[in-house]
Amino acid sequence: MLSSRLSQSSGIVNAAFLIEVKEANADVWNCLRRVRDLAAMPESVDREALAHEFVQGADELLVQLAKEFQLEETLGFIAPSSGATQPGDQTDLGKSSQQHREIYLCLQEMCERAEESEYRGTICRDLNQFREDFGKVDQLLREHERYEAELIRGHLGADAL
Ligand SMILES: [Fe+2]
Repeated sequence: MLSSRLSQSSGIVNAAFLIEVKEANADVWNCLRRVRDLAAMPESVDREALAHEFVQGADELLVQLAKEFQLEETLGFIAPSSGATQPGDQTDLGKSSQQHREIYLCLQEMCERAEESEYRGTICRDLNQFREDFGKVDQLLREHERYEAELIRGHLGADAL
């Protein structure tokens, strides 16, 4: 569902709309903060409850990220028209779309394994591995947000932010 939509995205960044999309969708950032907190929670808390909340939070984050990435690519990226874009712009947004796909697929794969582990009753044993795996997805996401911030700065001009 997500990949077909994302794979069509290229063109130039619509910086004002991209900022607006990021600011308007508070649910995704609140969900991300919650999963980060759960991933960093100390071992002393109720492990079963923590594991369940972490799996649920990661699932919700996957849904929220799919929505965020689609909004960004629908409203924040302008499809190229012949002669209207610079070659570098398409490369930039192609990279951004590729990062969206990579992050989504990494998180999706982790969520599927975590759900299976919960179903099999091994989630408490495996929780730290999943929290570590989430850290890698989160690192990709942080790098991606830095990259899109650079794109926005490049199109608005450094003084505009
Ligand atoms: Fe993005």
